[in-house]
Amino acid sequence: MARSDHDRRMAEMFDTIAPHYDFLNHALSAGRDVGWRRRAVALARLGPGETALDVGVGTGDLSLALLAASDATARVIGIDLSEEMLRRARRRADAAGLGARFTAEAANAQALPYADGRFDRVVAAFAVRNFGDLDAGLRQMRRVLRPGGRAVVLELSTPPSALVRAGFGLYFHHLSPRLAALLGGDPGAYRYLPRSVARFPGAEELARILGAAGFGRVRFERLALGVAAIHVAEP
Ligand SMILES: C[S@@+](CC[C@H](N)C(=O)[O-])C[C@H]1O[C@@H](n2cnc3c(N)ncnc32)[C@H](O)[C@@H]1O
Repeated sequence: MARSDHDRRMAEMFDTIAPHYDFLNHALSAGRDVGWRRRAVALARLGPGETALDVGVGTGDLSLALLAASDATARVIGIDLSEEMLRRARRRADAAGLGARFTAEAANAQALPYADGRFDRVVAAFAVRNFGDLDAGLRQMRRVLRPGGRAVVLELSTPPSALVRAGFGLYFHHLSPRLAALLGGDPGAYRYLPRSVARFPGAEELARILGAAGFGRVRFERLALGVAAIHVAEP
């Protein structure tokens, strides 16, 4: 798998936090991430025989929720840079009785090893923010999506209101690394979190970038006053 220095650092960081990831994720988002994924799943549900690609699958939360909500013959392939995350995703799919419909593969979002138009859906939750090259990753997601397919991207975002931004910024910059350290995670990794959100384009800008990556129709919904957003992008 081709990897830049950024990708190597990402894989190392997510390998390190993998054992605590689920717990910390729910704790740091006060459980909101579960409802946000549920909304993304409703927008991406698969019909008979359809297949989705879950980019940056992590421990598999989105993939498993999508399979559970989709037709019993639908399948999901989850990819990630982190072997630790992939191992956990596989184990969880097996435990949930979904292993036969789920495959976890090591791959880089910026160089997807799949044919053009291979997938009915391409989904990503809290993953695209981590790409070393966002444009390249989104272009790849567009490339592997079939005509008439749909990409659903759930990601943290920048709230449009200055007041909400200030409150959220305070929480993120000061509280989350301390909370993460307290709970046994890697505070460095959770310091990365607010920085990565601050660097990431806002919802309107992300919609524009998705358009530039080759998606013809793009819309988005803000969640929790804009702390997160779901973009729906179609060819
Ligand atoms: C914050 S986790 C989110 C995991 C999961 N989607 C969820 O909803 O909990 C982001 C994941 O994206 C992966 N990732 C980051 N950059 C990637 C890339 N270029 N290609 C593939 N996976 C990547 C990381 O290794 C990590 O497991």
